[in-house]
Amino acid sequence: MSTVVLIGAQWGDEGKGKVTDFLARRADMVVRYQGGSNAGHTVVVNDKIYKLHLIPSGILYSDKMCLIGNGVVIDPGVLLEELDVLESQGVSTANLRISPRAHVIFPYHKRIDMAEEERKGKSKIGTTCRGIGPAYMDKATRVGIRMVELIDREELAEKLRDVVEFKNQLLTGVYGSSDQFDYREILELYSGYGERLKKYVANVSILVNEAIDGGKKVLFEGAQGTLLDIDHGTYPYVTSSSPIAASACLGAGLGPTKINTVVGVAKAYITRVGEGPFPTELHDKLGEQIRERGHEFGTTTGRPRRCGWYDAVIARYAARINGLSYLAVTKLDVLTGLETLKICTGYRYKGEIITEFPDSLKVLARCEPVYREFPGWQEDISNVNDYSELPQNARDYLKYLEDLSGVPVAIVGVGPGRTQTLVLHDIF
Ligand code: GDP
Ligand code: IMO
Ligand code: MG
Repeated sequence: MSTVVLIGAQWGDEGKGKVTDFLARRADMVVRYQGGSNAGHTVVVNDKIYKLHLIPSGILYSDKMCLIGNGVVIDPGVLLEELDVLESQGVSTANLRISPRAHVIFPYHKRIDMAEEERKGKSKIGTTCRGIGPAYMDKATRVGIRMVELIDREELAEKLRDVVEFKNQLLTGVYGSSDQFDYREILELYSGYGERLKKYVANVSILVNEAIDGGKKVLFEGAQGTLLDIDHGTYPYVTSSSPIAASACLGAGLGPTKINTVVGVAKAYITRVGEGPFPTELHDKLGEQIRERGHEFGTTTGRPRRCGWYDAVIARYAARINGLSYLAVTKLDVLTGLETLKICTGYRYKGEIITEFPDSLKVLARCEPVYREFPGWQEDISNVNDYSELPQNARDYLKYLEDLSGVPVAIVGVGPGRTQTLVLHDIF
């Protein structure tokens, strides 16, 4: 049995797409299990850049099955565009399968996402406005529409009529908006989507379980990150799904006894998009410098990402919540040239040092990071092929990061390209 769950160990955008693509080389199947088109996973192969939102990052290999599980919320317009772009780039999408139980995002979800952000004003979450929260809300309140209904025009027509009427009332009555959705228009558009997507719909739970039982290697690709988890993240500044490792079982339809290994992807520093407290955030020129060098602008929304020093309190927390077996540390190359590097080892709160990630957002917002400093390195590391070729200071930095989180580093990223990856431990 060989199953690996790969998750973001920070606030998302850790480089999960790149590491998934790298590990997918040895996998037979890659599975997305939560989130939706709020995700933006970048894969760079031979200088060609692929930006994936819904399709698993294993799609660039023609022989891997790529599955979208029941836990994902699917915007069919975005998915079809992604399929078209990949096909036009010569990438076959024949191996894609989508769970009939995955919920569908409709135009009213995106409009309500925006309206809710406007209503919150200063306390907005800074969502991607992709309709994620409202779609998961409909799922929980049991008025959601799933892929199985999308591909059945009669079912779609029946469910949609009720829901659209209610959403229109919500938009005018609660949000004071004059925007109204036309049920017939949505029905025509979405039944067309259903026709095109029908051929991909298949029982993901059966496919995953059969693959595992048949000795195949299955890789689960998380979206977002641990601190954006609705239960374990910095609530309410989180997404509406569970990006943590446990969610792979729920979102793809398999039992926890079938998971062997969990890999947490973390940048050698840390970033965040959207609102919410961020103890090691750099508000100065250095923060800007890291943003420029690391091209820290959102893959989905283009928003500048907030940048800060590596936070080992968060790393330890992610190790516990996800049961991490290994860390994949990305973007080490971005730190090249900095004189001094810092790692946050704990927080100072009301004169005391705390080393556990706080539950209260009020406490977190008042935490001051305690740092340990390290000398940087000046050598270009983007062409290094082996860990042993890294400058001593870079190895010391990684070693300390490993010791603090208590999790071995298995992979190190020294550039965005598929080949700019150092392997310290084989994962599959
Ligand atoms: P994801 O959402 O976790 O898949 O991450 P994103 O794709 O949103 O953002 C990560 C960005 O960093 C992308 O532009 C990647 O191409 C890039 N990247 C990933 N790993 C590395 C690395 O080791 N070094 C550098 N310089 N860039 C990397
Ligand atoms: P990947 O998979 C980084 C953030 C948003 C916002 C919060 C809620 O590329 O790592 P949502 O639209 O989900 O309701 O927004 O979550 N967010 C992400 N940040 N990477 C992502 O995905 C994200 N997906 C959502 O910026 O703060
Ligand atoms: Mg991303």
